[in-house]
Amino acid sequence: MPTYLVTGAAGFIGANYVHLLLEWEPGAEVVAVDYIGFAGNLANVDAVIDRITFEKADIADFEVMEALYRRYRPDYVVNFAAESHNDRAILGPSSFMRSNALGAQVMAECSRLVPVRSHVHVSTIEVYGELAEGDKWFTERSALNAKTPYSAAKAAGDQMVRAYMQTYPEIDIRMTHCANNYGPFQLPEKLIPLAVTNVLHGKKVPVYGDGLQRRDWLHVADHCAAVHRVLHAELDAIPAAAATDPGLLPIFDVSARFEVTNIDIAAMAVTALGLNPDEWITHVPDRPNHDRRYLINPDKIESQLGWAPTHDFATGIAETVAWYVEHRMWWEQIIADKGELGVDWSQVGQAAAPR
Ligand SMILES: NC(=O)c1ccc[n+]([C@@H]2O[C@H](COP(=O)([O-])OP(=O)(O)OC[C@H]3O[C@@H](n4cnc5c(N)ncnc54)[C@H](O)[C@@H]3O)[C@@H](O)[C@H]2O)c1
Repeated sequence: MPTYLVTGAAGFIGANYVHLLLEWEPGAEVVAVDYIGFAGNLANVDAVIDRITFEKADIADFEVMEALYRRYRPDYVVNFAAESHNDRAILGPSSFMRSNALGAQVMAECSRLVPVRSHVHVSTIEVYGELAEGDKWFTERSALNAKTPYSAAKAAGDQMVRAYMQTYPEIDIRMTHCANNYGPFQLPEKLIPLAVTNVLHGKKVPVYGDGLQRRDWLHVADHCAAVHRVLHAELDAIPAAAATDPGLLPIFDVSARFEVTNIDIAAMAVTALGLNPDEWITHVPDRPNHDRRYLINPDKIESQLGWAPTHDFATGIAETVAWYVEHRMWWEQIIADKGELGVDWSQVGQAAAPR
């Protein structure tokens, strides 16, 4: 049976991937790596902990990661590990640069020195920046134009992975850019779980600014299936023309083409709890440099790899809200351990710190 090395495995998407991987391939050897940073939570893989090997390790630490590669000799590598919260990146960008940029390079370097069958670097729609009014969507050919500390650190990692793809074509390294994910195990400070957990605590749901920022949403299980499809796809060698055409690199944009405003998402979550959004949503000052809109086109992964999303949003959000209602102990523990994020954005240029 193949060995998978999955990083960021105690985070939201990585944990969902580990659960799904063990359903898809019950005999797979899974080495789950996470340094248990702010978003890491071993409870996310508790249900499968006796079926995986967990290694607490920092992907930006080359010696440690190279030793893990040599010990386990993974066939497949999926790098989900990243610092991922835009708000926290504004408060302290340095850890984002380390995990998202240096970490991406260290992982690629390990796959260069200790060959694997394939390696997927998981990235985000946000590296493309903000979509101009009138533009329909980004594609794999769009320029990287990240503008926030989180997305800029991810874009730095992406650039390095693209350099590895083209400089060392013998390493089979692929990349995905995904839309916003929703589903179980997401940290309670992210929009959908925040809406549910606040309401269940009797508090209103804070929405930044006018709430009209538009986001492209995909169920986490659809994202995991896309990553798995990319990992296992039979791909042609990178053609020379990719030097000037990034659309020819093994990069796949992943989306359900489902665009909604933040305020509508908050309203859907409140409605799913049987309450009136007008009474439960409050507007709070926007964070600085907040992207207004982004959307990506998944034509390439659909036409070349036959992937398509299977979760309809209305059902998906109702099930997700129900999951948070049913798993109250899981998120109450996180809030008790980590507190709630509350920021005075007027101080951000100085020394903003979570309250
Ligand atoms: N959440 C989304 O909507 C979304 C959308 C598109 C892409 N992505 C990408 O998917 C990946 C996973 O996102 P997520 O939402 O699960 O994030 P998350 O913050 O919930 O989980 C990330 C995990 O990575 C771990 N980690 C961070 N730095 C590490 C390091 N240096 N070494 C080892 N572990 C480290 C954290 O402890 C955490 O458990 C990220 O690369 C993110 O950029 C996320």
